[in-house]
Formats: sequence, structure tokens, C-alpha cells
Amino acid sequence: MRVLVVGGAGYIGSHTVYELIKDGQEVIILDNLSSGYMELVHPEATFYEGDIRVKSDVEKVFNQEKIDVVMHFAAKIVVPESVEQPLEYYYNNVEGVRVLLEVMQEKNVKKIVFSSTAAVYGEASGVCHEDDPTVPINPYGETKLATEKMIKWVANAHGFNYVIFRYFNVAGADASMKIGLMKDQLTHLIPVAIQGILGIRDHLTIYGSDYPTKDGTCIRDYIHVSDLAYAHVLGAHYLFKGGKSETMNLGSNAGFTVKEVAQAVNEIAPLKVVMGERRAGDPAELIASNDKAKSILGWTPKFKLVDIVRSDYNYRKKISQK
Ligand SMILES: NC(=O)c1ccc[n+]([C@@H]2O[C@H](COP(=O)([O-])OP(=O)(O)OC[C@H]3O[C@@H](n4cnc5c(N)ncnc54)[C@H](O)[C@@H]3O)[C@@H](O)[C@H]2O)c1
Repeated sequence: MRVLVVGGAGYIGSHTVYELIKDGQEVIILDNLSSGYMELVHPEATFYEGDIRVKSDVEKVFNQEKIDVVMHFAAKIVVPESVEQPLEYYYNNVEGVRVLLEVMQEKNVKKIVFSSTAAVYGEASGVCHEDDPTVPINPYGETKLATEKMIKWVANAHGFNYVIFRYFNVAGADASMKIGLMKDQLTHLIPVAIQGILGIRDHLTIYGSDYPTKDGTCIRDYIHVSDLAYAHVLGAHYLFKGGKSETMNLGSNAGFTVKEVAQAVNEIAPLKVVMGERRAGDPAELIASNDKAKSILGWTPKFKLVDIVRSDYNYRKKISQK
């Protein structure tokens, strides 16, 4: 297969490129490097620097490369920023995919794997299934849901087939330690807690300890980035073989409280924890049902919470020593 990975210089895109190349596939990357890094680009991938909102940038790639399947990771993903700059988020996340789909249709490439998010479920609590109501509570989630819908309508009109993956909490790094989450402004629990034991920040704040959970802190579903990336390889094979359009959660079917995650990090080195007030919009419990991805793709996550924490630690330690 020849796979175009749009956003392949970012965190999840680069891990997917590594898994695709391990699987023996040919990879072409298109990325504008707005939040990606050349260091994350696999040396065996063909790289094009360009912006998917610019039609000529996308056409250039399709004119020069034969492409079987397209994967899209090229989104802006910072929730508070999306609240401040909604138009920028719609422009990048929705318009970018509109241009991409237009070129795909013109070039008769009609298979797409799209990375969506649990944010489409909004404040849902408990175990999320793919047919649950979608009610995002911020512009980021809205742009991902709007794009899901656009892909579905385009598939309906022009015979595309898609796999839409909705991810839960992603963390960890590739076993090679060559790639990982490189950003400076980290917001996700695991890397933030790891920064707490590396001395990059003083402590971890836990927001809310009075939720109706076993220890009063929120429960979330964590998935290793390499497990997530491998699901995309399976998704591409599925479409390549003629699989029909599907939307699937990617998570672990299990949840851990924030305190349990902090404890897992604390087992590597002492972590100072400070209890804070609840944050608006944080549901008590969010877990992905992953039954659909298991039954359709035969996908099962291999890595446990302890592996995710350890791999993020090893990577963060490595880049902090640079
Ligand atoms: N990181 C998470 O925890 C998470 C959770 C759920 C869903 N997702 C989804 O996964 C996808 C990838 O997220 P990530 O964490 O790897 O983000 P990232 O910022 O690391 O990667 C995005 C990549 O896309 C590129 N890009 C952005 N806009 C572009 C454009 N207009 N043209 C070309 N390239 C562009 C960036 O330069 C970057 O390399 C996103 O679609 C996001 O919605 C991420």
C-alpha cells in the first residue's frame, strides 16, 4: 500500500508512520510543520512540506505520487486555544479536510482514515459507545464532529470509504525512543505528571477530589500511542481490502483514576501532588468501549498503564537531557 499521512510530522502521525513502515508500507507525508517537527519524520518516508488548506500543495503530492489510502492527523488540538480562536480552528480543521477531500475526489482516491476524538461525546459520563449522542462542548470538538459529518456526506455522494477513529487519552512513545510527544506546552495528565518527577515542574495538581468515583478523582481511559498507531495500520488494510465505512473508538475499555495515574508515576520517582478545585466540563468518568475496533479490525491494545507511564518517562527524560 502507498499511504499518504497528512500531519505525519506530529505526535500521533509520526508514530503511525513508524508502524506503517514496520508493516512494509510505503509512506508519503504532507505536513506544514505548524506543530510538527522534522525530527519526527521517519527517514524512509517521502516528505512534502505544504498546507492542506492550499489546494496546489495537496495537488502537487497527488500529481507526483500514487496513493491508495489517505490518513489525516493535521489538526489544531488545543482546547482552550480553540475557545479563544474558533475561526482559526474551523479554518484549519474543517476547511483543510474539505480541500483534501476535493483533491481526493478529483484524483479518484477514495479511502480515508480520519483521526477524531472522544471530545465529540462532550460531557458524557461512563462507557462511551460509537452510537452515543455527540454533543461537543468546545470548538475543538465541534470542528472534529463537523469534519466527521463532512466525510460521511462526501462518502455518501462520491463513493468514498472511511474509517473514523475516536481516540481517548493518548500517551507514551515509540519503543525506539526516536519519537514521542515533543511539545513544550503539555496539558495531558501523564506527561504533566512525568514533568513533575523530572523537576520540569514543581508538582501535579489534581482537579477535584469529590467525584463519585472510588477515590474521588476522575476516571479516564489511557491508550499507548503505538497501540493507537497500529490500529491505523489495520484500518488502512481494512479499507484497502474493500471494507465499508465505520466509526470506531480507540481506547482500552478500562479506566484509571487520576490518583491511580499519579501513583503509577510516583513508583518511578517521588511526585508531589496538590489537590485543586474541580474544573468546568470535566465528567467523572470517561471510558471507551473498544468492542467495535476489536471485532471489525481484530485490534487489541497491548500496553498497560504502567507501560504507557514508563515509556513517556523514558522519552521525556531523554529529551530533557538534550
Ligand atoms: N493528542 C491527543 O491526545 C489526541 C486525542 C484525540 C484526538 N487527537 C487527534 O489526533 C490528530 C493528531 O494529533 P497530534 O496529537 O498528533 O497533534 P500534533 O499537533 O502533534 O500533530 C498535528 C500535525 O499536523 C500538522 N498540521 C496541522 N495543520 C496542518 C495543515 N493545515 N496542513 C498540513 N499540516 C498540518 C502539524 O504540523 C503537525 O505535524 C488530530 O487530528 C487530533 O484531533 C489527538
